[in-house]
Amino acid sequence: MLIKNATLITASESFMADILVEGEKISQIGQNLQVENADILDATSKLILPGGVDPHVHLDLPMFGTVSSDDHYTGTKAAAFGGTTTIIDFVSFDSPTLRESVDKWRVKAEKAAVDYSAHMNLTRFDEKIAAEIPSLREMGITTLKVFTAYNDRLRLSDGDIFRALRIERDNGMLVMLHAENGDVIDQLITDALNTDHWQPEWHARTRPAWGAVEATLRACALAAQADAPIYIVHLNAAGEVDMLRYARERGVQVMGETCPQYLFFTEDELRRPDGAKWICSPPMRTVADNQRLWEGLADGTIQTIGTDHCPFFYDGTKPIMYEGKEITIPGKELGKDDFTKIPNGLPGVGDRLAVLWTTGVGSGKLTANQFVALTSTNPAKIFGLYPRKGALLPGADADIVIWDPQKKVKYGVAHSHQRTDYNLYEGWELVGYPEKVFLRGKLIVDGEKWLGKARMGEFLPR
Ligand code: URP
Ligand code: ZN
Ligand code: ZN
Repeated sequence: MLIKNATLITASESFMADILVEGEKISQIGQNLQVENADILDATSKLILPGGVDPHVHLDLPMFGTVSSDDHYTGTKAAAFGGTTTIIDFVSFDSPTLRESVDKWRVKAEKAAVDYSAHMNLTRFDEKIAAEIPSLREMGITTLKVFTAYNDRLRLSDGDIFRALRIERDNGMLVMLHAENGDVIDQLITDALNTDHWQPEWHARTRPAWGAVEATLRACALAAQADAPIYIVHLNAAGEVDMLRYARERGVQVMGETCPQYLFFTEDELRRPDGAKWICSPPMRTVADNQRLWEGLADGTIQTIGTDHCPFFYDGTKPIMYEGKEITIPGKELGKDDFTKIPNGLPGVGDRLAVLWTTGVGSGKLTANQFVALTSTNPAKIFGLYPRKGALLPGADADIVIWDPQKKVKYGVAHSHQRTDYNLYEGWELVGYPEKVFLRGKLIVDGEKWLGKARMGEFLPR
């Protein structure tokens, strides 16, 4: 296939060129390419972006007696419709060994429709586990997520995080950290429930920004003392951006990710009658935090935008239609009388690129090149997928998005293909939208037409 007359947008430049795709790879990029017998795709007035790389999604994740409502097929199909052709999920450490947990996840993930990898949730730690960590590399997994919150469930002690960082350093791996203060959160939740505060807004009130800021600095300090790099997931508070700068100015190798929800919404959303739709951890903060995160993206303090896609139905007692069948999955209504029982997480994997194009590039907050860097190239580089992914280069996988920068869409649940009953961006007027999406040279999305299928995605060993 020869794509003619397009404007290519990479992480560093924008230029007119033709792209030749042979099999699954980009084979040439150049001016006025002439190739006999090639199928020609004229992309005049369109942009070409490398397929999005979402470094943070939770598919088929058990939580609070239910499960996140997109599995590895439906979530990756939604990703594809939004222009994302690679996702990185998380392996729950739910078996006796890391290997058994990975093997179990591999079976669930096989139905993916786009390419995929996983981070390992390191939610227990002892000498045996420490000894097993390096073997994750042979399973293609080089990243470990640790938590400073969710006491007695997912959290590791500071000492164990420090030990994990040293193992990471010695084995060319990377620790990712969820930064909140689990001890303070537990006390505030007890106080709230004891005083009959059960409404969704108490989710944010019991998880203060100071906890996120303090835990981010603590993570940077642990990384500095272990002489290891670290990646902070889902940055949500202005002070976290300041801590990243503080640590980096002192030589700490810290990288950071934020998510669209932290750029647009605030804790006020939780006071709406349907506030449970916005429950995720960490919670959304204030307008000042939104602004500081945008600045952090524009000035290079923050490296990536993932989604933390972890959808639940708003009303899981009512079915929705999905691929012609009714489906019902218990969701946010589980916590209608108690905010601590509302499953934590939001839909977003399909929304990310179109929403950020309009609000970031369209508004002038980000350049088109920064947009590509943040949503594709940087995650591919940080997580060991570049230049196979995140690149428009000869030899890269032909994961190509033909982007129509003029297309206007009144966005919402009807467009997003995420398997849930609501969308955070309902009614938003978007300008700029994916028109065609190719996964390794195969057309999988053509406008509103789905041409992909389950199991088309390949596991990406990193
Ligand atoms: O609310 C969220 N983010 N759910 C997913 C789990 C996590 O902590 O990332
Ligand atoms: Zn997290
Ligand atoms: Zn997450």
